[in-house]
Amino acid sequence: MRLVKRTIRDVDVGSRRVFVRADFNVPQDDSGRVVDDRRIVESLSTIRALTGAGAKVILASHLGRPKGRDSKWSLAPIAERLGQLLGKEVPLAPDCIGPEASLMAMALERGDVMLLENVRFHPEETENDPVFAKKLASLADLFVNDAFGSAHRAHASTEGIGHYLPSVAGLLMEKEIEYLGNALEDPSRPFVAILGGAKVKDKIGVIEQLLPKVDRLLIGGGMMFTFYRAMGLEIGKSILDAESLDFARSVSEDPKILLPSDVVVATEVSADASGSVVDRDSIPHDQLGLDIGTESARAFREVILNAGTVVWNGPMGVSEIPAFAMGTEAVAKALAESACTSVVGGGDTAAAVERMGLASAMSHVSTGGGASLEFMEGKNLPGIAVLQDRREIQTEGALK
Ligand code: 3PG
Repeated sequence: MRLVKRTIRDVDVGSRRVFVRADFNVPQDDSGRVVDDRRIVESLSTIRALTGAGAKVILASHLGRPKGRDSKWSLAPIAERLGQLLGKEVPLAPDCIGPEASLMAMALERGDVMLLENVRFHPEETENDPVFAKKLASLADLFVNDAFGSAHRAHASTEGIGHYLPSVAGLLMEKEIEYLGNALEDPSRPFVAILGGAKVKDKIGVIEQLLPKVDRLLIGGGMMFTFYRAMGLEIGKSILDAESLDFARSVSEDPKILLPSDVVVATEVSADASGSVVDRDSIPHDQLGLDIGTESARAFREVILNAGTVVWNGPMGVSEIPAFAMGTEAVAKALAESACTSVVGGGDTAAAVERMGLASAMSHVSTGGGASLEFMEGKNLPGIAVLQDRREIQTEGALK
């Protein structure tokens, strides 16, 4: 699937003031230091393309879920990291609307970049208030949405603003839609999906959407125990998503689904716990499953090595604890070795692949968590829907 939305390649951005919505919602430590800057790094291609073409760039993002103005959620650490990456200072406006933000935006020269303070300091952002959206729009004459990670949110800076300015996709947004869209719509076969994570409930929409399309669906992570229970197996103290049992029962017989044949169990989830591998029908009643077992990891690896396309969302176990990271590591390594197109989504999965140093061996690691899941569910994401349709509008042509 080619992106049917206009992008910054299709418009003349030179000397325009461009409002770029990025997703700088990145993890920080207690002192506010950015501990994973992947989303910031991934936004650089759009910023550089715009500044290189002479645009005046006004960046905006949310960080966390603050209730009103709260310095804990200031974008100051993001401005600093961005400045280091761009090799020039990125001034931070004290607010995202109001006279100071306007003055700073008006004073921008061609190629300059500024950052607005956290858009979620105003409740009107998540309410998608049209007056607030119009105030954001008044800062610029073009809206670029590059925040794929927030594209499932119909908020003022992701969707509302698009009703007041010509609106196009940034290069990260374009890349995300192309990789995820191609994988889902035109995959090289065998097409394999790997799903993990704790709850079946979070993945029901994705399973329903993917099952008819894939050749194999591998299931690991905490959600496998709900499937085991649906099959009548003893799961001990393992996590159970009871409200999804009926759904698990309805699909668990599908021959495309491959569930782990063995699991790693332990008496508790702790950093110094040690696990042992048992068959899935021998889970002790006083223990809990925390990873897929070695036999399953081998079986998953075989499927991955023979796949044409793999989409993966959700770790296979409690991968942040070394004793329960084997399954996730095995999947990541098999993907790195396989000649398949590998598309990895979901915050935890992306973080695990990053931790293992294997991110660059994947075809694409999405910056979207909830957004990539909703995309795979086939939903129309509001932050994408609001962008101008390429089919309807002739290109002006500028960025190549
Ligand atoms: C994310 O991290 O998934 C996005 O930045 C969206 O954040 P939100 O769930 O707080 O809207």
